[in-house]
Amino acid sequence: MESNKFYITTPIYYPSDKLHIGHAYCTVSTDMMARYKRMRGFDVMFLTGTDEHGQKIARIAEEKGVTPQEYVDKIVAGVRDLWKLLNISNDRFIRTTDEQHKKAVQKIFQKLYDKGDIYKSTYEGWYCTPCESFWTDHQLVDGKCPDCGRPVELSHEENYFFRLSKYQDRLVEYFEQNPEFCAPKSRLNEMMNNFIKPGLDDLCISRTTFDWGVKVPVDEKHVVYVWLDALSNYITAMGYGSDDESDFNKYWPADIHMVGKEIVRFHTIIWPIMLMALDLPLPKKVFGHGWLLLEGGKMSKSKGNVVDPVVLCEKYSVDAIRYFLLREVPFGSDGVFSNESLFNRINSDLANDLGNLLSRSVAMTEKYFEGKVPENREADALDNELIDLAKEVVAKYEENMENLLFPNALTEAWRLISRANKYIDETMPWALIKDEAKHARLAQVLYNLCEALRIAAVLITPAMPDTAERMFEQLGVSDANLKNWESLTWGACKEYAVKKGEALFPRIDIKAELEKLEKEAEEREAAAAKAAKAAEVEPFKDEIKFDDFMNVDLRVAKVLSCEPVPKSKKLLKMQVDLGSETRQVVSGIAQWYKPEDMIGKSVIFVANLAPAKLCGVESQGMILAADDGDDAKVLFVDGLAPGSTIR
Ligand code: MSP
Repeated sequence: MESNKFYITTPIYYPSDKLHIGHAYCTVSTDMMARYKRMRGFDVMFLTGTDEHGQKIARIAEEKGVTPQEYVDKIVAGVRDLWKLLNISNDRFIRTTDEQHKKAVQKIFQKLYDKGDIYKSTYEGWYCTPCESFWTDHQLVDGKCPDCGRPVELSHEENYFFRLSKYQDRLVEYFEQNPEFCAPKSRLNEMMNNFIKPGLDDLCISRTTFDWGVKVPVDEKHVVYVWLDALSNYITAMGYGSDDESDFNKYWPADIHMVGKEIVRFHTIIWPIMLMALDLPLPKKVFGHGWLLLEGGKMSKSKGNVVDPVVLCEKYSVDAIRYFLLREVPFGSDGVFSNESLFNRINSDLANDLGNLLSRSVAMTEKYFEGKVPENREADALDNELIDLAKEVVAKYEENMENLLFPNALTEAWRLISRANKYIDETMPWALIKDEAKHARLAQVLYNLCEALRIAAVLITPAMPDTAERMFEQLGVSDANLKNWESLTWGACKEYAVKKGEALFPRIDIKAELEKLEKEAEEREAAAAKAAKAAEVEPFKDEIKFDDFMNVDLRVAKVLSCEPVPKSKKLLKMQVDLGSETRQVVSGIAQWYKPEDMIGKSVIFVANLAPAKLCGVESQGMILAADDGDDAKVLFVDGLAPGSTIR
């Protein structure tokens, strides 16, 4: 009997305090698929997690002065919170620092070692720490990592190697027999041409230059290469290598590994070969999606241009962000995120098409029939067109979901929504109400609108579960049997009792919102520049002798009068009381102090400074102030007698 299990995974993420909208793209897409499959009656296992070992994490922890374990423990909570915020419905969350995972990785290593697929040799080559990838001379591009373009480090270590080369022919054969294994197809061609055809090199799978990882069971000086450790998560999370392998037996092989395009290589070469060596079945599909870019290029923490999904969700709602991610970019291709494209989507698809259809339909049903409309089996040509379209849309939606074409599936749902909006214009309920004889027709029209909306709500549930629920509420649909996939037949709901609620998505004034964001960005940049400047400490002056310092005669001086120096924006002229005499002093503090701020105050005064003229006005000394480049503060010593010495 064909099992109805469906096992889907995201990559496990490097823990970071700045996961960006591009990271969310992969997880939200996987979530849509998992939710869809659950609705189709599958026993879904949706796995995500964190990839916590390796040199990159070890280095960050060292920079922060904490242990790697402390660092990851602190940061993983943030990753989990983000998925919670985005309404991600994962069934399990694995951390590669979980004890059970670590033990299972050791067992995997041991098994490959015992089989003779792992051997010891010397590695000499290049290592890209951000990608945790080994490269040979000929693979580098301009001496840099071919994946991320960053500098690589020379690595010379005695290490363990995994015999990838031994499995090369079997891998090629598998690809030929299973053309569906990797999608989109272009990604597999890329793998074949760039990596497999030139000949697979054996893979270095241990490191000795740091110890943050799973210890190699046969040689504890080594830790297991982080990708071998990470890829194993897909089976260790199901209990492989533990006392209870029942979930592994139930769910493995995975139905879909969803991954970004830059890690397709690991999932279509190293991972299948590991599984072949372990005598385990291979995953059914690896889908390599594209990247979400910014208008000017890649999103990256080092460039400081990441778009924060938390901020976006707070400002524009979780479902608007989920919808944008799922709808905007053809799945598999790269796409561009911009605030403007987000706002356009929100306004046109969510506020106008969907929001208006719901609010107009519900408002008219309330107004004309106190919210209640029953099913009506008579249908005219116009009704049939809507009903047939609904049927067609459901079929196409399903077909697109099977091919992981999320934007296309949503486009189908929106075809129904647009058709229903057009149906309002065609049937003109506001005209039907005027003629008593047409009231039955009016009820039928409104029922059809509610039914189209209910079907649309079911279809958008995998993408926007909260919005679908809010639609059901306004439509008065509470029965779970009218929200599930089986209810996607026209006429499943026999009567509507609607209740108007809040607008689903408020319209955004795009121009004003963009201006506001630009202003906020400018303020943030100014604050960051100020903080950076404040952090820049002026170099200290050369050492002086104690006596030299004592030669500066510092006294308390009380300001008797103060006025601006004519024609100068910066200078204030003051008469100050030094106890035994009165002096005139000119000071460049007019930007920060008004004359009335100074009068009556006691300041620190350099009493033996040679007089100088500033803007033609004589200054017989100087008052002391602190200055950070942007702001200045006069040092006040109120309460001390004028003329007192300062040492
Ligand atoms: N830890 C590895 C995966 C190990 S899986 C056994 C890793 N982690 S990651 O945190 O760097 O990336 C996680 C996922 O986010 C990857 O699929 C990656 O492609 C995806 N993305 C990171 N930036 C992205 C965009 N800008 N756009 C779309 N996806 C992006 O790789």
